[in-house]
Amino acid sequence: MFDQLQPVPTDPILGLMAEFKADPNPKKVDLSVGVYKDEVGNTPVLKSVKKAEAFRLENETSKSYLGLAGNADFNSLITQLIFGEHQIIESSRVKTAQTPGGTGSLRVAAELIKRANPDATIWVTNPTWANHLSIFKAAGLKVEEFPYFDFDTMGLKFNETVETLSKVPEGDVVLFHACCHNPSGMDLNIEQWQTVADIAKQQKFTFLIDSAYQGFGSGLEEDAAGIRLLADQVEQMIVCSSCSKNFGLYRERIGAISIVGRDAIKTEITFSNTLNVIRAIYSMPPAHGADIVATILGSQDLTALWHQELNEKRERINGLRSFIATKFAEKGVPGNFDFIANQNGMFSFLGIDKAAINTLKTDYSIYIVGSSRVNVAGVNDTNANYLAESLAAVLNK
Ligand code: LMR
Repeated sequence: MFDQLQPVPTDPILGLMAEFKADPNPKKVDLSVGVYKDEVGNTPVLKSVKKAEAFRLENETSKSYLGLAGNADFNSLITQLIFGEHQIIESSRVKTAQTPGGTGSLRVAAELIKRANPDATIWVTNPTWANHLSIFKAAGLKVEEFPYFDFDTMGLKFNETVETLSKVPEGDVVLFHACCHNPSGMDLNIEQWQTVADIAKQQKFTFLIDSAYQGFGSGLEEDAAGIRLLADQVEQMIVCSSCSKNFGLYRERIGAISIVGRDAIKTEITFSNTLNVIRAIYSMPPAHGADIVATILGSQDLTALWHQELNEKRERINGLRSFIATKFAEKGVPGNFDFIANQNGMFSFLGIDKAAINTLKTDYSIYIVGSSRVNVAGVNDTNANYLAESLAAVLNK
């Protein structure tokens, strides 16, 4: 039966992670997968997470099934983290289910969209996170791209975004990244969020917002401003969120899907379909990650500690952005990389070609995703000179 299967290329991001691990070069630099690294290249467990885990170990009373929607405390606390004190919570227009990571949430969203409108096309930013395309296609949805990032200016192509979205038909879905756009680091400002909200109202398409980096851009509240503006103004939307990055819970696979509906009854109906989709995919989510997040967000002291740890990460990344631009200039890397300082979150494009990316890997053990996306957090005082000098050597050849 399996004889007809053809080999599949390795994942463009996770494949590099494995190659990096196997590389014996002591100078190797990993700028590939979106995992936060500290100044010595480690990804330690947050102190707030350790404390919550210790609490859980002492206080967990049962391993019985959680139910389709997962941990109710987590669902309520994460809804507040995303939407703030929003009237859609008060009026029961939003319901959240815990999911296995952000990817699990996106897959549930895709199946729900397919069930609601089998002919729906999902529109994604060009470029977007490579796995978006795989997730939506696996669910049988048609996927189209709309112009978003401009490689000539290393900024947004917002006029073209508007032009394309103004033709998206009723019943389709448009995906935006809430903040820290992966892979470009370029986000909408609040006026631009308003513009796309107005187009959605006119065209009657539905937003799907991927919020994987809340707290990594400008702050927890600031990074949710686009979502909250849409929640003020649109009747329906889906928000897929992840705790991988902001709680550093990558391998625990903890995320959420939030359904916003026209009114409490319609929201309940859509949510019951969401739970039905979940039942047929993985039945129920795992407990550990949600317990940790609920314990942190349910405690003032742990929340304060988590805020402090998240602020430190964000400040380090933002500092690195200017540091990298300066270092590249100092070491004679051709081109102007000042744009890196003005972008948000963990990623930016270097805008270099595939041959250079390959030479960096094979000759220098520097790992960059094939689109030229770099994980800014992978740079530190120890590897910055080597990175800039290697890049200068490759690009000046
Ligand atoms: C990334 O974009 O590198 C991360 O979101 C990890 C992944 O699953 O691709």
